[in-house]
Amino acid sequence: MLVKVLIDNISKNELLCEWGLSVYIEYRDKKILLDGGTSGAFARNARMMGVDLNAIDFGVLSHAHYDHADGLAAFFEENDHAPVYLRAGSEENCFKKEGTGYKYIGIREGFLEEYADRLKYVEGDVELAPGVYLLPHKTEGLEKLGEKAHMYREAEGLWSPDAFTHEQSLVFDTSRGLVIFNSCSHGGADNIIREVGETFPEKPDCISKNPPTKTSGRWRSGFAGQESGKSIPDIVPETAPWRFSRRSWAIRWKPSIPGLQLMICETKRKKVIYMEKLAREDAWSLLTEYTETPALQQHALMVEAVMRHFAKLAGEDEEVWGVAGLLHDLDYEKYPEEHCKKATEIMEEKGIDPVYIRAMNCHGYGICTDVKPESAMEKTLYTVDELTGLIHAACLMRPSKSVLDLELKSLKKKFKSKSFAAGVNRDVIRQGSEMLGMELDDVMRESIEGLKESADITGLRGNL
Ligand SMILES: [Fe+2]
Ligand SMILES: [Fe+2]
Repeated sequence: MLVKVLIDNISKNELLCEWGLSVYIEYRDKKILLDGGTSGAFARNARMMGVDLNAIDFGVLSHAHYDHADGLAAFFEENDHAPVYLRAGSEENCFKKEGTGYKYIGIREGFLEEYADRLKYVEGDVELAPGVYLLPHKTEGLEKLGEKAHMYREAEGLWSPDAFTHEQSLVFDTSRGLVIFNSCSHGGADNIIREVGETFPEKPDCISKNPPTKTSGRWRSGFAGQESGKSIPDIVPETAPWRFSRRSWAIRWKPSIPGLQLMICETKRKKVIYMEKLAREDAWSLLTEYTETPALQQHALMVEAVMRHFAKLAGEDEEVWGVAGLLHDLDYEKYPEEHCKKATEIMEEKGIDPVYIRAMNCHGYGICTDVKPESAMEKTLYTVDELTGLIHAACLMRPSKSVLDLELKSLKKKFKSKSFAAGVNRDVIRQGSEMLGMELDDVMRESIEGLKESADITGLRGNL
């Protein structure tokens, strides 16, 4: 899963910002747009961030407020086919009470009619694509929250508090638990979490088995970004949420499992990272620009293959993990004395996303850098770099010279024999497996597996 915040109200680098939210999500083979901000400026940011709006399969409108909906006009201009799903309760009818008057904060008047052929109204629970769900609020009495937030709707001259029937949660089923997107959470973060939990009671990580207890307090009235000033961990300590923008958040259950935060934010610093994916062919031409030795190229390909395999196991982005593997020894041939340092310079100069640079530095942790692996991708790279060296050496000892008939048992023997491939640092492999929370045997087995899958690319087919 890959998530990019296309626009929000904090500026970053040369990207535009505004009061509005738009988020781009890649999940399995689907490309999804969540909200379009206010002005359509997100479309310009999307271009700068390498997001092709025309490739998007469908859009979702989180709720019927102008700062999420109005900018979608720019989306309809660039994308000629994708529908945008919104709740059946969506109307051009949302107001904020200010003093004695009501200020309009709904979708621009005429918008719903203008784009009627692109808008798809949904009711109840909807599965938009395998593993992608849209859920309405299922909590009674949400108009109390509307009243607290001074949000109203009008019918025949009468004002009533908004019960947020136009708000919905976008939920993804990942191999590591459910991930919820709900832009402003006007209906209350605790309600949303409970609603999703109750909808998917069979999900092992569901919060419904561990319901949030703190349900009182000021935050309920407006956990809408900066209005409340409270963060989700204060509210629902059982979850591992990341606010990846001032105005939105994602929640993933089971705090101990890393993964999503890699793509959207650094939890420690609460800083948004716009993940810029590097295309595989660009990574390859960069690598070969600095690395001509076939053996080193082969090493890079092997590490890439194993990284891809582990990404698949973890339900993470294979492209990102693979490219991180490919580039990890970028500077080794030309600058062995400055290993990792020089690669940092090169990659920074090329404007390569910090996610790759950090991962590259992590593989040298304790050897030539002090950048400790934190994310699952970094820990994996740290572990499998040395291990692929050992596997390669083990293959070369075989009559077949192949990985295809290499068994775990025989690799374990080689691991234990200190004199075999003595340059391979066994401690790093052990330590890395521990970091990953995996048994050494499993790490070895899966690494062999990854190399078997790619035996032709990595040249490990031997004479079989
Ligand atoms: Fe290295
Ligand atoms: Fe390496």
